Amino acid sequence: MKDTKISDSIVYIGVDDKTIDLFESQYVVPNGVSYNSYVILDEKIAVMDTVDSRATDEWIANLEKALDGKKPNYLVVQHLEPDHSGSIEKFLEKYPETQIVGNAKTFAMLPQFFDICLDGKTVTVKEGDTLSLGSHTLQFIMAPMVHWPEVMVTYEQSEKMLFSADAFGKFGALDAEEDWACEARRYYFNIVGKYGMQVQTLLKKASALDIKAILPLHGVLLKDNLEYYINKYNIWSSYQPEDEGIFIACASIHGNTFKAMQKFKEILEQKGAKKVVLADISREDMAEVIEDAFRYDKIVFAASSYDAGVFPVMEDLLLHLKSKNYQNRTIGIVQNGSWAATAARV
Ligand code: FEO
Repeated sequence: MKDTKISDSIVYIGVDDKTIDLFESQYVVPNGVSYNSYVILDEKIAVMDTVDSRATDEWIANLEKALDGKKPNYLVVQHLEPDHSGSIEKFLEKYPETQIVGNAKTFAMLPQFFDICLDGKTVTVKEGDTLSLGSHTLQFIMAPMVHWPEVMVTYEQSEKMLFSADAFGKFGALDAEEDWACEARRYYFNIVGKYGMQVQTLLKKASALDIKAILPLHGVLLKDNLEYYINKYNIWSSYQPEDEGIFIACASIHGNTFKAMQKFKEILEQKGAKKVVLADISREDMAEVIEDAFRYDKIVFAASSYDAGVFPVMEDLLLHLKSKNYQNRTIGIVQNGSWAATAARV
């Protein structure tokens, strides 16, 4: 059974989703995804975010168990994306006296998702505001575009825990036995990658806090070795390469460009390249390809020419990288075009 007790006062009430086909309708999640949510029990009780509507019933059951007959005073909405806000309506039907805590953007956006009368039910907070629950004090830190405009994170001052919204999240259910960095990197670059500057701003604000644990809205709770995770986030959000290596992203129609790249990989290795990763991007998970493109310091784009342009699979990768602000890598280009070589120009 999952250990739900984070401390004497903080309880995990999130849920795992192992049946979703595609997260955000585009990312395969072979080990599922978790929608994390927490309750802080004090003189006043605060619930930190809800969960996706796919898991409302299980979440409400977890919440009821944690509350043990009590009623929550506050629901803190750190992020309005439906994977976290999808159970707000059901929650308010059950606990109509609860005050909703958000910022001005939260309450401007909320009616676009829910038809809820919020009259007299809102507590609007801004950067640095605090909310006392008794011995616990919540301090709100705005984190716009990490990953939506209304996002904020919350620092609990007495236990020194940072509720970090999507930041430091990963794909994978809580019980998935997998490397944190691999699925956190895939999550970061595909979901938050465009907003490196805003992540840097958040990291600067966080560096002024004494943080003992990071409690994200997806994936494992981070209690030890926090410098490791913060360092990864600093590398990723500043668009620095993480590892030395050559990533060959190959889009081949009939397999001939791919064969050439297999030979090319061999030659590079013979010449002493320590890490060469070759991907057939027609067949590999595009989110994983994007992750690897950011991970290494060198990339080779190898593609067939097609319709006086580039093979569409490569065009799709390029569009993704452009939208994620891809930069700071050494780039090589290989084009194949037996009767009209046009790929490299694109
Ligand atoms: Fe996990 Fe941006 O939602």
